Amino acid sequence: MTDRPVGPLGAAERGHGLRLIMRTGMRAAEADFALVALRVDADRLIIHDALGPLAENMVGNIMRVRDSVAASVFEDGTPLLVADYPNHGAAQPGVRVQIGSVVVVPLTAEGRIEGALCVGRLVGQRDFVQLDVDQLTAFVQRTGTARELHDAQEERRIARLVEERVRIRDDLHDNVIQELYAAGMALSFAATDAADSALRDSVLAQVDALDATTRRIRALISGMPGFNEDGPALGAPKRLVAIVESLTPALRCLPTVAFSGPVEATVQGQLAHDLEAVLREALSNVARHADATAVQVKVAVADGRVVLEVIDNGRGIGASERSSGLANIGRRAARHGGESHLIAAEGGGTRLVWNVSAVTD
Ligand SMILES: Nc1ncnc2c1ncn2[C@@H]1O[C@H](COP(=O)(O)OP(=O)(O)OP(=O)(O)O)[C@@H](O)[C@H]1O
Ligand SMILES: [Mg+2]
Repeated sequence: MTDRPVGPLGAAERGHGLRLIMRTGMRAAEADFALVALRVDADRLIIHDALGPLAENMVGNIMRVRDSVAASVFEDGTPLLVADYPNHGAAQPGVRVQIGSVVVVPLTAEGRIEGALCVGRLVGQRDFVQLDVDQLTAFVQRTGTARELHDAQEERRIARLVEERVRIRDDLHDNVIQELYAAGMALSFAATDAADSALRDSVLAQVDALDATTRRIRALISGMPGFNEDGPALGAPKRLVAIVESLTPALRCLPTVAFSGPVEATVQGQLAHDLEAVLREALSNVARHADATAVQVKVAVADGRVVLEVIDNGRGIGASERSSGLANIGRRAARHGGESHLIAAEGGGTRLVWNVSAVTD
């Protein structure tokens, strides 16, 4: 038996095990689609991976456990059969009507329910029966999923760490260095005006010290690779989830995420870079200005457009003094033939809509 590679660069390998379990379970159950949901925290779960025709409207979605059809599976571990899904399910309306019936079984690691495997048949296919539930449960128990669950959680943890590093690097580059530069300029001007030569020398020495600090930071930054260089080769949904997860502590509330349409296939290159930057800024605005208790992130690809919405239920826009972040969001929209708006959300709060062309030239 050979060991699988471990460590950050083995990341492309990770999650493979769950995918295999999903595929085998789907075939055995003669299902049309399958998904694996993992616990994010006590209140939320994420659709970690999915197979089948509805996958792109599922993967990366983060929802409250209690809003999910799998709530009882996560709570007490009892396998579940949902027939007549359109009237009982919790997926987004456009997806819900396409699903006929589903079976959900718990995935456990060391006795804890860390996730769930769900297989489903589309509407019009015959419904699952109790025997399907028993067989899928037996299959999962026989297979064992502790190692796979651990690997999948590890993949998300690494993505979040890489994202944090990217954010620190960008902040050092975009803000800290500019501020040191401005301070150095102000001190240089002050030195020229100083009548006392001892004072002038001491101020100029500080200017040199600031320059040296700036050079040290630049050297540090150049040694800090970002997502595109050494991070796991993740598609846009996973990178956007990493951004949401890394900013969650600052938000002081638990965001939900919904993807729809071919996000992974469409959002690439410069468009991905801009969308990521816009999401960071939008969430940092919610963290700093909104005082919200709920945030929804939606990314939809349809009709040749990519639309990001960040909706909070905070104090609303109000009068603002500055707008460099929003101006930047607008520039990043214009670059892709689009526009952005910050508007009052229904029922209070703020809604950022960033709507751009999916076609890159
Ligand atoms: N989600 C939000 N809830 C409430 N107010 C907001 C929200 N987003 C933006 N604002 C208001 O709009 C203003 C402009 O936002 P913008 O991001 O341009 O600037 P900023 O966040 O204050 O500073 P920075 O240049 O560092 O981004 C904010 O100062 C704030 O008053
Ligand atoms: Mg801002």
